[in-house]
Amino acid sequence: MHNSRVKIAPSILAADFSRLGDQVAQAQAAGADLIHIDVMDGRFVPNITMGPLVVEALAKAVTIPLDVHLMIVEPEKFVRRFADSGADIITVHVEACLHLHRVLGQIAEAGCTPGVALNPHTPASFIAEVMDMAPVVNVMTVNPGFGGQRFIEGMLPKISRLRKMAHARGVDLDIEVDGGISPHTITKVVAAGATVAIAGTCVFQHERGIAAGLRELRAAISDRQLSCDEETAN
Ligand code: DX5
Ligand code: ZN
Repeated sequence: MHNSRVKIAPSILAADFSRLGDQVAQAQAAGADLIHIDVMDGRFVPNITMGPLVVEALAKAVTIPLDVHLMIVEPEKFVRRFADSGADIITVHVEACLHLHRVLGQIAEAGCTPGVALNPHTPASFIAEVMDMAPVVNVMTVNPGFGGQRFIEGMLPKISRLRKMAHARGVDLDIEVDGGISPHTITKVVAAGATVAIAGTCVFQHERGIAAGLRELRAAISDRQLSCDEETAN
């Protein structure tokens, strides 16, 4: 896989909410490919964040796609609302959907790209029968609910498994990784087959600013860096 194809999606969960519009505009100017928006309801996950009003506001602040990650129960009740607010990708959790096939159809019908997210304990095989309906899979590399958590190394084989499943079915799958992404972990997830790195803390809380955070992640997966790593390993 070509590393230049890897997209970086800053997660606003780690941004300064008093200056949100400015922060996402900075991320876009620094080369972010998507803006990741974590929607939490206090039921599916033990935290509450934002809803469609924030998506609507962000749609006015940037032109890059908005990647809306719904960590909510009964997401089918809100698909239309988020689509109307300007979401481009709407991702629902396998664990939150009794009728996942129906919900993915609903997202596509609303004009958005359907995504499925897998909690750390959920096997890759759970999405085998809906792979052709969801061009995006979000592999949670932390337990959802909070930013700034430690990357779960045990998720790397799951990423490889999904990449193999997609290849075997001839599906062009974007594999997102979400949680604990840093210049160190991004090289591992990309090597395993991820194509979208979602990063909150490492971008929005970087000590030298948003652009520096993005630059570091990008540098870590540049071809030159990878060949340096290979040389060190040999
Ligand atoms: C966790 C969220 C992540 C989170 C990632 O529930 O889905 O998107 O913001 O944040 P970091 O990069 O800080 O782990
Ligand atoms: Zn997320």
